Amino acid sequence: MARNWSPESWRSKPILQVPDYEDQAALERVEGTLRSYPPLVFAGEARRLKQQLGEVAEGRAFLLQGGDCAESFAEFHPDKIRDTFRVLLQMAVVLTWGAKVPVVKVGRMAGQFAKPRSSGTETIDGVELPSYRGDIVNGIEFEDGARQPDPDRMVKAYGQAAATLNLLRAFAQGGFADLHKVHEWNLSFAGNGEGARYRELADQISEALDFMQACGIDASTASSLGKTDFYTSHEALLLRYEEALTRVDSLTGAHVDTSAHMLWIGDRTRQIDHAHVEFLAGVENPIGMKCGPSIDPDDMLRIIDKLNPENEAGRMTLIARFGAGNVEEHLPKLIRAVEREGKKVVWSCDPMHGNTIKSSTGYKTRPFDRVLSEVQEFFAVHQAEGTYAGGVHFEMTGQDVTECTGGAQAISDTDLQDRYHTHCDPRLNASQALELSFLIAEGIKAERKKAAA
Ligand code: TRP
Ligand code: MN
Repeated sequence: MARNWSPESWRSKPILQVPDYEDQAALERVEGTLRSYPPLVFAGEARRLKQQLGEVAEGRAFLLQGGDCAESFAEFHPDKIRDTFRVLLQMAVVLTWGAKVPVVKVGRMAGQFAKPRSSGTETIDGVELPSYRGDIVNGIEFEDGARQPDPDRMVKAYGQAAATLNLLRAFAQGGFADLHKVHEWNLSFAGNGEGARYRELADQISEALDFMQACGIDASTASSLGKTDFYTSHEALLLRYEEALTRVDSLTGAHVDTSAHMLWIGDRTRQIDHAHVEFLAGVENPIGMKCGPSIDPDDMLRIIDKLNPENEAGRMTLIARFGAGNVEEHLPKLIRAVEREGKKVVWSCDPMHGNTIKSSTGYKTRPFDRVLSEVQEFFAVHQAEGTYAGGVHFEMTGQDVTECTGGAQAISDTDLQDRYHTHCDPRLNASQALELSFLIAEGIKAERKKAAA
């Protein structure tokens, strides 16, 4: 950890993307309240995730990270949490079966509320108001009252994160994620192409489980069949919230940001001498960093050194987001820098943020083909460099939305208006997410075959 680091040392550094709170007294009251609340995750869980990500860094596991672009207060509902969790389980099963490596499951859930914006204000019809920065900061409605940053929203976000995490833990450990239920996760799709394909795979898994049971291996002898580890993550953007939830682990004396197991740092706030890097340097959690086209390999190495001076495997996940057609230009030089310096990192691919376009009907969308292309380019570059493509990072939902075009359902520009519900960026719907996981599983399988040949 950096010398002179403390949970509040970020406050003396330059900072971007910070909301302008009017009522400082109210803000401080909220911070005090959050400091008095229970941690949302435990230090031991964050360490366990770090250890599992260490396995990914060594090429022995695969990282699946996904969820909403932005969670919202309005869309908070147990069925939505269940549906997103269920698709993540389906994707994990497809990847585990296809790639034959453990899949580390991390949701963009239970805390993904704060959004970076390209401009501090938004002007419509001559009226200028603060930009929407996510439900933890202000309201999305274009009205003066809604757009003023309100500290009480942090308390509400904490409450929603706690309830979401509680349900996720129950699902992951309480029976819902039992591999014997592999068919039931599919109910909402019955009928369509991915659904049928998934059913076939589920049949094979059921047979394998029956066979193992006949051999004396079932949930009573191998408890891991009946449950799964599921972790949470979000962008560590609103540092007052993150600081207020940072605790000293009584076992090790280290600081842990207990708002989520894993935190990532955005492409817009990763300046080495700024507040966000400073804050994350001192907490023990596994850390992600988004790497877009503007990143310089030497800067990247300096940030890695600051965030992970011990070169601990599993601490750093680099999340590449270059856009389809741009991976070959940007990724190899980053990989070579990391290899040259012997840095231990997880390489993950975010094929969403570099592929956002405006549809002919005016919606912000992402063509499925471009999302898939970026993943394929990511795998191809790693194969050429002899490094391990260790994970994927998706914006997705378990709902049947129409936000990204294409996929087996062939969603068109004119279909987008049907069920376009996102509070921020367009998400893959359940069937697009599942389709993508089948295609990725094939990619990993091919990669392993080649590597073994
Ligand atoms: N515990 C193992 C794992 O998480 C096996 C498992 C149980 C599993 N339920 C699952 C795998 C659901 C994928 C999806 O990998
Ligand atoms: Mn997004």
